Amino acid sequence: MSRTLDRTNRTERLSTAWDAAWNQGEVQALDALLSPDYVRRRGPAGVAQGRDEFKASIDAVRAAFPDLHTEIEDLVEEGGRLAVRWRSTGRHTGTFMGVPPTGRPVEVSGATFARFDGDTVAEEWVTFDSRQLLEALGIITTGHAAAIDPDLVRGVHRKFITGVTVVTTDDAGTPRGLAVNAFSSISLDPPMVLVCVQRSSSTHPALHRATHLGVNILAADQLDVAKTFASKGEDKFADIRWAPGEHGVPLIEDSSAQVEVEIAERLEVGSHTVFTGRVVSARHGDRAPLVYSGGGFFDISQTAPLPW
Ligand SMILES: Cc1cc2nc3c(=O)[nH]c(=O)nc-3n(C[C@H](O)[C@H](O)[C@H](O)COP(=O)(O)O)c2cc1C
Repeated sequence: MSRTLDRTNRTERLSTAWDAAWNQGEVQALDALLSPDYVRRRGPAGVAQGRDEFKASIDAVRAAFPDLHTEIEDLVEEGGRLAVRWRSTGRHTGTFMGVPPTGRPVEVSGATFARFDGDTVAEEWVTFDSRQLLEALGIITTGHAAAIDPDLVRGVHRKFITGVTVVTTDDAGTPRGLAVNAFSSISLDPPMVLVCVQRSSSTHPALHRATHLGVNILAADQLDVAKTFASKGEDKFADIRWAPGEHGVPLIEDSSAQVEVEIAERLEVGSHTVFTGRVVSARHGDRAPLVYSGGGFFDISQTAPLPW
């Protein structure tokens, strides 16, 4: 009999405190439910939160979604544990995860496992459909537009002038690399860059398992290096002068500039993987960079600067 009372009590207390905190913004209602050393875990990659951090995160969510409504769709209690399946809805009217207000209705579903220690919750594990949230905020779009002529798109890309880089990595002691012009700076603070590598490339698996990659911006007199790394050779480094950088990444000597990058994300997009990462070492010299345009290579020192 006392067990039954206990149960009802836990279920009811959790439901009441959740409603107060998530739906009314009364986060202090959680003080009676969560133990002072409460820990909220959000998957292995998520940083664990304490009670105050959790309360602050509810405030932040409610600031971005003032009409937030969280509904408990299912709740199961067993022993000192509670499993909750929930669904939250709200209109995005304040900045959230760096995304300015979109005015969109957003819906996210998830599940929480709570472990009670006596009367209070000591620990919670939370999982939710993060893709659903990213799509609702418009960070990712999965809808497909009508097909467009690939030759037309290729023609557009040929109008875009780039340099040529060799993206390298150390594969358990073996240097690997390929020619890449899909390189871009993303941000200076922190210093983030990206490269796009086709999944069919033989260097791709090594890059995918690597922690670091190198980007060597080739100099105008390194056309032979560009050709070597645009090929499918067994040992492309055989006739190349190179040395490992501070982070063990193979760096090609006499390049115009070089960075070592600690890989942050590997995003599968179409036929390519976009590797983003943080620049952890950098150098550049006086050598003019090699230029690639419309399928040909150019020496920038032969071009006329325009007044600006
Ligand atoms: C100028 C130039 C730019 C290139 N840019 C890219 C690129 O951005 N991404 C990519 O995956 N391949 C790019 N390639 C093609 C690869 O370098 C080429 O497919 C290479 O043979 C791949 O070698 P691997 O299979 O040994 O890795 C480029 C080639 C050239 C000549």
